[in-house]
Amino acid sequence: MITYTVKTKSKKYPIFIGKKILQNIGKIQKKRLPNVKKILLISTRKIPLIYKLIVKKSFSKSLSFTILNINDGEKSKNFNNTIKITNYLSKNNFTRDDLIISLGGGVVGDLSGFASSIFKRGIKFIQIPTSLLAQVDSSIGGKTGINNKYGKNLIGTFSQPEFVMIDLSTLKTLPSREFVSGFAEILKYSLIMNSKFFVWLEKNSHHILKKKKLSIIQKAVLESCNCKSIIVKKDEKEKNIRAILNFGHTFAHALETKFNYSSKINHGEAVLIGMIVACKISLNYKLLSFKEFDRIINFYKLNNFNYKYNNFLNTKNIGTFLKIMKKDKKFKGNQINLILLKNIGKAVIKKADLNKSFFPLLK
Ligand SMILES: NC(=O)c1ccc[n+]([C@@H]2O[C@H](COP(=O)([O-])OP(=O)(O)OC[C@H]3O[C@@H](n4cnc5c(N)ncnc54)[C@H](O)[C@@H]3O)[C@@H](O)[C@H]2O)c1
Repeated sequence: MITYTVKTKSKKYPIFIGKKILQNIGKIQKKRLPNVKKILLISTRKIPLIYKLIVKKSFSKSLSFTILNINDGEKSKNFNNTIKITNYLSKNNFTRDDLIISLGGGVVGDLSGFASSIFKRGIKFIQIPTSLLAQVDSSIGGKTGINNKYGKNLIGTFSQPEFVMIDLSTLKTLPSREFVSGFAEILKYSLIMNSKFFVWLEKNSHHILKKKKLSIIQKAVLESCNCKSIIVKKDEKEKNIRAILNFGHTFAHALETKFNYSSKINHGEAVLIGMIVACKISLNYKLLSFKEFDRIINFYKLNNFNYKYNNFLNTKNIGTFLKIMKKDKKFKGNQINLILLKNIGKAVIKKADLNKSFFPLLK
């Protein structure tokens, strides 16, 4: 088991990474959180029962342990579930010393993290991410949140977990489409801040996507955790540099909102498209060179990723997208902070008017 430390202004906490490490969680809790008496594990029915049982078995029998399964899917990041969780905690007299564990993808993690951060102004919280996306991104850095009808993650908090446990073995049961979704975030790190990592991904993406070599996946996860921690350390509350992690996400969120968070497009697929849109804008602003743009497109082709954003975004529906994008947290006045690429491995933040200047892009 590898231990990686995340340092932020508000908290320092470990990420434990390894294979078949779920059974260690009880021991770690005993050492790090000895005052816990009650545990609520939040998950969904799609997460294999065996993981929940391994986690349950690892805790002392003297602790009260309950599993709450919420419905699977993005729509579950809502107020109803937040109320359901906090009502459960109140009814069962959970104190601030007690513990919420999230076991699942980013949806469960964001929702559970949010509920735990507001219940009694903060109860202990542990992330056990089981999707690739959650392992490399959402479980680290303390952003929690839910959606409302106006858009994604519009209600939320910054609240760091006690620790994160990444058991790579859980990826075996992750559907391929979800695996690609997580890979999108790995690719994002390489594009925005680590050109060497991009070169490594060019060589190893097929090993990762085939899910055959866990050691290579581990390297990709570790490098991604490292990238995310570097940014979060510098800027926990997204005052400046952390915004670069949103590369491709403004468009991605608009896409997800437009498709009503349906299975037509998942988060990572939307991010893959969003990153190409951002690369195209970077090209239009003469930041990114044609050569580097082509290299990114070739990477997409090599891995059979959809790069044809015109299938989603066209001159007829741009109005809808602009409207959704104006609800984005990054939108102020009539301007939005665009995250663009200067080159592979270097993102820049550029303020831009969110209006028809986007149209040439769509020709
Ligand atoms: N907080 C942050 O910093 C942050 C960062 C990036 C994304 N996010 C959020 O994360 C969410 C997306 O996360 P996601 O892609 O994990 O989606 P998700 O939570 O919906 O998980 C994807 C699917 O995979 C299933 N699954 C997860 N692990 C599995 C496993 N090991 N075996 C079998 N099935 C498994 C889930 O049940 C679900 O059906 C979005 O809501 C996004 O906004 C948050």
